[in-house]
Amino acid sequence: MSFVTSRQEGAVLTLTLNRPEALNALNEQVLDDLSAALDAVDLSAVRCLVFTGAGEKAFAAGADIAAMADITRSEAAAFSRRGNDVFRRIETFSLPTIAAVNGYALGGGCELAMACDIRLCSENAVFGQPEVTLGITPGFGGTQRLMRLVGMGRARELIFSARNVKAAEALQIGLVNAVYAPEELLPAAKKLAERIARNAPIAVRACKAAMNEGIDLPMDEAIDAEIREFSGCFETEDQKRGMTGFLNKQKNIEFYNR
Ligand code: CAA
Repeated sequence: MSFVTSRQEGAVLTLTLNRPEALNALNEQVLDDLSAALDAVDLSAVRCLVFTGAGEKAFAAGADIAAMADITRSEAAAFSRRGNDVFRRIETFSLPTIAAVNGYALGGGCELAMACDIRLCSENAVFGQPEVTLGITPGFGGTQRLMRLVGMGRARELIFSARNVKAAEALQIGLVNAVYAPEELLPAAKKLAERIARNAPIAVRACKAAMNEGIDLPMDEAIDAEIREFSGCFETEDQKRGMTGFLNKQKNIEFYNR
């Protein structure tokens, strides 16, 4: 049995962490199942991914504390490497990703949400990096991604103090893009995913690649990345359809992904 369930609706694939009895805590098996779910994505049919958690309480309450309690330093390094590899894979996945955060997103749960391109959450969502209360640091990217998302000062405050952030504050500090009533969250995430999926897929993927590449580069090199991605869209069938369609005042242009 997998701890990650996949459901494809049109061009949107929803991946659900499915270990609700442990608030979707991330152990080796969950990480392996996430990785396998990414391996199985049909890139010719899927155009946007949505990540969410099973149950009404949690997106993911973090890495599995019971599984970590007695591990050695080298085992901890391997676990951190594994989680970071899977989350980095999500961050650099060729398709856009949306986290629909439906409750607790603590530790590794917050880190999973931050590895996604876009975060939406429910009114009962709670974000936080509580690791220092457990005697450890964040281990799946939290020390690096939180400061890139909300700024250095806020990230340091939240990580050093282990203070949790509720949905309204998450919105205010830019950790999420929008907050919804719990029953509206997944429909809203899918609606956004469908909207993204209607746009030219090669172009959407190229936007993500340019932004991912440019974020860590000096501006001149980052601009080179944009020029490469921009020019790479030309001579595709979708570019021809998009531009001819505009010039012919065509509505609802369909794109082929080629
Ligand atoms: N690991 C393992 N099990 C967890 C878990 C976790 N991170 N979070 C929750 N669970 C389990 C609980 O042990 C409990 O199991 P039992 O029913 O068998 O006792 C079950 O999920 C339900 O949890 P609670 O009874 O605690 O639920 P609650 O509503 O009272 O509290 C909570 C919810 C505030 C989220 C609380 O569960 C909690 O604080 N969880 C831990 C959060 C945390 O510290 N996360 C960081 C983990 S470290 C990390 O993530 C490092 C990293 O970056 C890689």
